[in-house]
Amino acid sequence: MVVSICVGSACHLKGSRDLVELLKNAIEKHNLSEEVTLTGSFCLGECNRNGVTIQVDGEICPGVTVEEFPEFFQTKILDQLGKGAT
Ligand code: FES
Repeated sequence: MVVSICVGSACHLKGSRDLVELLKNAIEKHNLSEEVTLTGSFCLGECNRNGVTIQVDGEICPGVTVEEFPEFFQTKILDQLGKGAT
């Protein structure tokens, strides 16, 4: 699975760096480093959202905030990988 976090200027201002940290930690905690590749991407064209744009295997998930991160990680990453509840 490839997870790309938008590091375009709008998302950068909305905290993409914090989300990179959260993702790295969560991937480590769940031992997913073999399964999940974390990359950055340029602007994904969703900058008008209230949060950072993250792409998961080609699916664009706009507007992810630090508060919403646990739900995002659960539904878009753990569930997709068939890992179930945390
Ligand atoms: S800067 Fe992230 S979607 Fe545009």
